[in-house]
Amino acid sequence: MTDERSATFRWAADAVDPAHVPQRTLYTGAQMPAIGLGTFGSDHAPAQLVADAVLGAAEVGYRHFDGAAVYANEREIGQALKQVMAGGVPRDELWITSKLWNDKHAEEDVIPACRQSLDDLQLGYLDMYLVHWPFANYHAPGVNVEWRNPHARPYRHEAFMRTWRQMEALVDLGLTRHIGVSNMTIPKLELLLRDARIRPAVHEMELHPHFQQPKLFAYVREHGIEPVGYCPIGSPHRPERDRTPKDTVDTEDPTIVNIAARHGVHPAVVCVMWAVQRGQTPIPFSTTRAHYLANLRAVVEDRLSAEEMAAIAAIDKGCRLIKGQVFLWEGAKGWQDLWDPDGTIPA
Ligand SMILES: NC(=O)c1ccc[n+]([C@@H]2O[C@H](COP(=O)([O-])OP(=O)(O)OC[C@H]3O[C@@H](n4cnc5c(N)ncnc54)[C@H](OP(=O)(O)O)[C@@H]3O)[C@@H](O)[C@H]2O)c1
Repeated sequence: MTDERSATFRWAADAVDPAHVPQRTLYTGAQMPAIGLGTFGSDHAPAQLVADAVLGAAEVGYRHFDGAAVYANEREIGQALKQVMAGGVPRDELWITSKLWNDKHAEEDVIPACRQSLDDLQLGYLDMYLVHWPFANYHAPGVNVEWRNPHARPYRHEAFMRTWRQMEALVDLGLTRHIGVSNMTIPKLELLLRDARIRPAVHEMELHPHFQQPKLFAYVREHGIEPVGYCPIGSPHRPERDRTPKDTVDTEDPTIVNIAARHGVHPAVVCVMWAVQRGQTPIPFSTTRAHYLANLRAVVEDRLSAEEMAAIAAIDKGCRLIKGQVFLWEGAKGWQDLWDPDGTIPA
C-alpha cells in the first residue's frame, strides 16, 4: 500500500465532479464516461498497485475502468470496486469493461469466461464485454515477439461469429449490458455488422497523436460504434519486447511539447485532451495519483484551441505500437497481415 491511497474509499478534497466529465452516448442510449482508467499493468505494475490506482482514481472522480481477464488483476480490482461501492458510489454510476481472451473463443468457453471475470470483479453485470482480439490465437504470458503458436490461424469469420453468438447470449442473460470488439479492421467489421444480431457498441483500438487511424476512426463513428482509444499517450512504459527501432514517441513530439508548455501541463495530458476533443474515449493507464488526476482534470477544466487540434491532426505518423506479432500464424508474411492493410483479410 502506498501512502497515496486509502484502503477504504474516501472522496478526495481535490476530486473532479464525475457529473462534469463528458459522456459518450452509445447506440443503446447508455452514457459512457469519455475518459476511463486503463488497467493493463503489463510487466511493470503489479496487480495490487493497479487495484490501488483504481480505488484512488475513483476517489478523484473516475467512473470508467478498462480491464481484461488477461491483465491478471481482476480479483484485486474487484476488491477495490467493492470499496468504491461500499463508500457510496452506486453500481450504475460505474462503467466497467472486461474482455474475452484469445484462448476462450470456443462456444462453450465464452459464458464461463465472462462469469469468471464477474466473480473476480465481484459484480453482477458488466457494462461492456469485448472480444479482445479477433483471433483465437493464444500466447503464453510474457513471451517474446518471435514466439509462434503452432495452432494459430488467420481470421475466420465463421469461427468469429460462433464466438459472437455467445457474446450476444451474454447480453440476453444480463451478464453484460453491451458487447464490443477490439483490434478489428474495416473488412472484419463489415462482415460482423452484416451478420450480428446485437451490434458492437464500441471498438477499442490503438489511437494516439502518432497513430490516428483516420479511416477506421471515421468508419466506426459512421456505423454508430464508439471508438475507445488505447495507448492514448503512446504507452511510454511498455515492455521492451513491444518496441521497435522505428517507433516514435508522442510525448516528445515538438508540437505536443509546445502545446503542453502553453497549457502548463505534461505532454501526456495534451494527448488525453486531444483524444477526448477529437471524439474518442481514451483509457490512459497510470498508477501515479498526480498523473491520473491531471488527465481527468484537464478533460474537464481545459480545452485545446481549434489551431492546436489542427496542429495535432497534422503529426500523424501511422506509427502502430501494438503490432500483435505473437498472434501470427505459420506462413504469415509479417505483423501487417493482422491488420488487412490492402483491404482484404488474408486467408
Ligand atoms: N484492447 C487492447 O488490445 C489494448 C491494448 C493495449 C492497451 N489497452 C488498454 O489501454 C490502456 C492504456 O494503454 P497503455 O497502458 O499501454 O499506455 P498509455 O495509457 O498510452 O500510457 C501509460 C503510461 O503513461 C504514463 N502517464 C499517464 N498519465 C501521465 C501523465 N499525466 N503524465 C506523465 N505520464 C503519464 C503512465 O505512467 P505512470 O503510471 O507513472 O503515471 C503510464 O506508464 C491499458 O492500460 C489497457 O487498459 C488495450
